[in-house]
Amino acid sequence: MTTDFEALRRRFPVLERKTYLNSGSYCALADTVRDAINNYMDDRLAVGANWDVWITKNESVRALVAQLLGVTSDEIAITASASAGINALASAFDFSGPRNKVVVSDFEFPTNAQIWHAQERRGARVVHVPRAADGYIPLEHFERAIDENTQLVAVTHVCFRNGARLDIPGIVKIAHARGARVLLDTYQAIGALRVDARALGVDFIVGGMLKYLLGTAGIGFLYVQDRWVRELVPTQSGWFAQQNIAAMDIFANNPSESARRFEAGTPAVVNCYAAEAGLKIVLEADPAQIEARVRALTGYCLRRLADIGWPAVTPCDDARRGPMVAVPARNTAELFERLTAADIVTSFRDKNIRATCHFYNTEADIDRFVAELERLRDEFAPTSA
Ligand SMILES: Cc1ncc(COP(=O)(O)O)c(C=O)c1O
Repeated sequence: MTTDFEALRRRFPVLERKTYLNSGSYCALADTVRDAINNYMDDRLAVGANWDVWITKNESVRALVAQLLGVTSDEIAITASASAGINALASAFDFSGPRNKVVVSDFEFPTNAQIWHAQERRGARVVHVPRAADGYIPLEHFERAIDENTQLVAVTHVCFRNGARLDIPGIVKIAHARGARVLLDTYQAIGALRVDARALGVDFIVGGMLKYLLGTAGIGFLYVQDRWVRELVPTQSGWFAQQNIAAMDIFANNPSESARRFEAGTPAVVNCYAAEAGLKIVLEADPAQIEARVRALTGYCLRRLADIGWPAVTPCDDARRGPMVAVPARNTAELFERLTAADIVTSFRDKNIRATCHFYNTEADIDRFVAELERLRDEFAPTSA
């Protein structure tokens, strides 16, 4: 069935007032996500502590994330953030032997580098894969960095600075051939791009619900491929990570036999309500159709920018980008303010304005964004443009 993106767009009221190209920071709020949060509030007033229902919400989020990734619920931990998932995973690794190297790329969001550097106190050696002169990271650079001492390759799916997508199957092939495992940070992709964990072949995935998954802040997930779940015992733990949450045993740590062992304490109940509603929209809209729609929008944006002679730094090749188009500019902070004043919601990192697209965006949104840039070009276009 073909997804009716126009009808779906009407469920995001902010889109009536704003040209919203900011899903890579925080999604637009959907009617059902707002209702879900309100339902939680009503429940608090009517029932008080409705634990039996709340636990089912956490389990529902787990099942929906599993469905989205094409894996089982037992391979999913629901966490407070992507950082919490990475930390729990890191706590299960042993860096005391010769295989103590962690390879990260220069495209990482800070969290997926800082947490690995934090493991240096436990014996980890962190090696960065640099970008080439063209600003991107070719597979050969991973080939050079990953070796027989590499325990983990921790990489982003799509770079939060320039929108470039890494060749994940290529990286996985190199890593696995050398006995290393791969953690994928899919926060800048999942919900806008299809993320099929089995097809990608990665060992671990982290992400969160506040961007393209249409939920809210304060909730994320960690996927741990089945073969690693019982082998990895996190030292970061808590009562919700135990095999029997109700055991209340203070004399032992009995981690769950599922990926729940990477969780910790009381779930963020209200966030589960929002995340469940957001995930349902993504799944109902069909991730494959969303990906095609987003690819069309980013492709259109890149062509329109080329038309006005202000090219983006994001790759034009469909296979090498995600939902973001990053536009270099002079004085980005000021340009961001000017766009915001014109009701065009973007974000910026370094010298780039980031326009991030979801299925609810339209070509008209892109036209408004590009027209405004064109109007402001004398003040803000880079001197080379
Ligand atoms: C690629 C990427 N990874 C990780 C994060 C941070 O995730 P969290 O705040 O849930 O730890 C972000 C947030 O913007 C991100 O873009």
